[in-house]
Amino acid sequence: MTTVFRKKLIEVSIPLEAINVASAREKSIRHGHPSTLHLWWARRPLAACRAVLFAQLVDDPSSWPDRFPTEEAQDIERRRLHRIIEDMVPWEASNNDAILNAARWEIARSVAWGLGEEPPAKGDGKAILDYLQTKAPPVYDPFSGGGSIPLEAQRLGLRAYGSDLNPVAVLIGKALVEIPPKFAGLPPVNPKSRGEIGRGGKWNGKGAQGLSEDVRYYGQWMRDEAEKRIGHIYPKAKLPDGSEATVIAWLWARTVRSPDPSAKGAMVPLVSSFMLSTKEGKKNWVEPILDDTAQDGWRFEVKRGALTKAEEEKLKEGTIGRSNGGTCILSGASMPFSYIRDQGKTTGLGVRLMAIVAQGRQERVYLTQTDQHSVLALSAKPDWFPDGDLPNNPRNFNTPIYGLATFASLFTPRQLVALTTFSDLVAEVRAKVLIDARAAGLIEDDAPLHSGGSGAQAYADAVGTYLAFMIDRTTDRNCSICSWDSGPSGTKASTGGSARTASVRNVFARQAIPMTWDYAESNIFSESGGGILSALDWIEPVLKRPVVATGPGQIHNINASKNSFPVRPVVISTDPPYYDNIGYADLSDFFYVWLRRALLSVWPDLFRRLTTPKAEELVATPYRHGGKDQAEAFFMAGMGEALTAMHNAATDGEPLAIYYAFKQSEAAADGVTSAGWASFLQAVVDAGLAVDGTWPMRTEMASRMIGRDSNALASSIVLVCRKRAAAAATITRADFIRLLRRELPDAIDDIRKAGVGPVDMQQSVIGPGMGVFSRHAKVMEDDDHAMPVKTALSLINRVWEELENELDTAFDAETQVALAWFAAYGFDKKKSGELITLANAKNVPSSSLFSSGVFKDLRGDTALTPRDELPKDWTPATDKSLTVWECVQHTTRVLNAEDGGGAAAGRLVTEMGPKAAEARALAYRLFEIATQKGWAAEALIYNELAQEWPKLEDLASSANVRASTAAAQAELF
Ligand SMILES: C[S@@+](CC[C@H](N)C(=O)[O-])C[C@H]1O[C@@H](n2cnc3c(N)ncnc32)[C@H](O)[C@@H]1O
Repeated sequence: MTTVFRKKLIEVSIPLEAINVASAREKSIRHGHPSTLHLWWARRPLAACRAVLFAQLVDDPSSWPDRFPTEEAQDIERRRLHRIIEDMVPWEASNNDAILNAARWEIARSVAWGLGEEPPAKGDGKAILDYLQTKAPPVYDPFSGGGSIPLEAQRLGLRAYGSDLNPVAVLIGKALVEIPPKFAGLPPVNPKSRGEIGRGGKWNGKGAQGLSEDVRYYGQWMRDEAEKRIGHIYPKAKLPDGSEATVIAWLWARTVRSPDPSAKGAMVPLVSSFMLSTKEGKKNWVEPILDDTAQDGWRFEVKRGALTKAEEEKLKEGTIGRSNGGTCILSGASMPFSYIRDQGKTTGLGVRLMAIVAQGRQERVYLTQTDQHSVLALSAKPDWFPDGDLPNNPRNFNTPIYGLATFASLFTPRQLVALTTFSDLVAEVRAKVLIDARAAGLIEDDAPLHSGGSGAQAYADAVGTYLAFMIDRTTDRNCSICSWDSGPSGTKASTGGSARTASVRNVFARQAIPMTWDYAESNIFSESGGGILSALDWIEPVLKRPVVATGPGQIHNINASKNSFPVRPVVISTDPPYYDNIGYADLSDFFYVWLRRALLSVWPDLFRRLTTPKAEELVATPYRHGGKDQAEAFFMAGMGEALTAMHNAATDGEPLAIYYAFKQSEAAADGVTSAGWASFLQAVVDAGLAVDGTWPMRTEMASRMIGRDSNALASSIVLVCRKRAAAAATITRADFIRLLRRELPDAIDDIRKAGVGPVDMQQSVIGPGMGVFSRHAKVMEDDDHAMPVKTALSLINRVWEELENELDTAFDAETQVALAWFAAYGFDKKKSGELITLANAKNVPSSSLFSSGVFKDLRGDTALTPRDELPKDWTPATDKSLTVWECVQHTTRVLNAEDGGGAAAGRLVTEMGPKAAEARALAYRLFEIATQKGWAAEALIYNELAQEWPKLEDLASSANVRASTAAAQAELF
């Protein structure tokens, strides 16, 4: 029996532009964004996850020919569904019940129609959720990381499951997806809030707002309690007027023994920049002063005032650069990195307090360091520090080569004291919450959170978990890798309005732990960015957003390569690790070691190991696997097993969506056959999956990317796959090429219609091409070997190029001449003879090329007419010899003209009639040519035009509808 699959929207088209714009915008959302709960690397934008999940579950209208019998009817319905996606992807929509209900209803409708039932009533949000919770298939992400995909599944009302190998990721997922629904609707238990509720009556909070209030209250309690215990090692600073001020940060410089014998073994500073604040009018800097009476013959003094540009640049050079190593401030002797490494590993580097940043009444005050501050800081005695060595992975962990080789070595003694104190307070705070929760009437069950409890004990564990996250957020700004950011140089106007002020940087600006020479030690009790309470400012808003009350979710700790899904069948939507991009396990140990201290008894299974599991991690790390080839073999085998497990657990009715993070450097010479991409697709095919489509996703605006590099590719690709039919046929290479030639033209047209821009065309064509390849059991080569994916990719690319070239011959003759000219000379001026030769080859009289205005006659020379010289009053309707070339150039001109814009360009498109489709195809061709030639600005213009085209057609068709309605009305009257 053959199963009839209903095509899902994601297999036909999705509104890419809207998804990409929302994904790009989401990057700038900070407060309340789930990613701010706890750092995790390479998260997928929520907008993309939400849209992809929706389109995986909602039927394409073509699946219901009885309901949508014509192509036109299907198109209208598809556009309606696109609008639902467009409405739901913006960040602002993520908590909008009306919008989310509309989206949930569409999913419920597809599920219901598939079951031969009627969907619940549209306006009945609760009935829709109940229906989805019982009838819709659950969603599973076996590489759930920071939890974006399960979170979005939950938001769409679906049963949401995820798992990850990494305990830190699992805990983040639990904190986002699993814990909040458990305690949704509960009022806070802390005495202060209970007192307020008691006075004001009923608790009106939504979602996990009660939990969030408690996290704030007990977080403040922890801070105050810690201050009582260790506040004395965080002294206040004395301001010049004699008053006292809270310190924001102590700035330290590492030191190394000078190699110059004349320095007599003095330790000298390694400083990357002496600037403390670069703000105009508030410039502050450190000056190293040679002083025989000072320790090692030098001291630091803080200065403020005016600086010339040259002086500032000099101060920014510090005593150590990025490429040439350091310079001894005493003798000027150079200190190459090799010397500093050697010293770091043998005798160790030293430290010297450089300056103090304090919070004055109106502004930050930069002060010269004092011995009292220095001695107090260095005398802090931690009674615990995290065990463990940093990984031997110089690509991402730079400090071990300078002798900082353990986790503990990344912290100052005072930071170790503070972080240990806070970690230990988590147990105390849980005990406090437990008492309060019981007093507040929470169920008196002793079941802890990790074993499924939801009473008072579990509640205390939950609050403790978020407070451990508070410590982790603080750790990211309380470690000796955090450097001081002196802010943007210049005035607000000259820095593009940047409001950034000088502040402490966090560790993980990149997916790495770099070496820093001078660093800022935050005051954990201050109210600035490095203070513990500022961590709560990020955590609380995430919990406050009522995203949760939809339904329970589960996040497990599972190795994806093992076929051990706790639930099946499931809709697979997942974002696996990409090759060697990010060493999650190594990086996350930075947090794990502290979480373990705070939460071992709360999550005993997650924190039973000393560090995170490494051996099974699907990352191709040569240092872990004994070489590059072994690393690749490990990755491919493990990924193959994971894909097979997904295949086995997946529903038959829905396609799988697998994100693939594409790296710019992966574009090989032929654009598609990079090793990583080809190997990944090979694993997909070997796991019994057939590729159904590839959607390029961007997290940056196309224009910005292309502005930097005209070949900038999408940042990830969503592979849409189905299980390959058991009875799939075997075909030959010749069959494969024949099928590609037959199927690609329509597929390319569909991809363009879906709004894929020229930049991403090459990647997107892989979808239908691989569709042909992978729906067959095998493609046999002439020598009786099965064709590998790598060869298939080259053939797909070749056939695509042939088709594109063939398309050129379909353009009118003048356009063909213009295209050939453009490919050779762009808009440059050349001898007219060149044009005559080209025109003769196409049988076009050169006079008609001039009369049409495509070329301009420059008496002996000629050139394509530049856009700004084209006649402003041109319209397709009145052009007697309309060419596709003119259609493209004029539309571009009008689109960008001051008196033009979308509506005016849309009017031109209306008048083009059937030439409009050709014009869009020409825009893609011109982009390809401009890109190959390296004409970035010209490429950008055609990329934007091609991407705008569907909108212009929409404007054109609505203008047509308006015109015909007006005509019909005129007839009526
Ligand atoms: C690209 S990330 C997922 C990011 C996630 N989509 C998000 O938005 O936060 C890939 C994840 O795969 C996990 N991983 C690596 N090897 C694994 C394995 N063998 N089993 C399960 N998860 C694994 C990593 O810990 C990482 O969290």
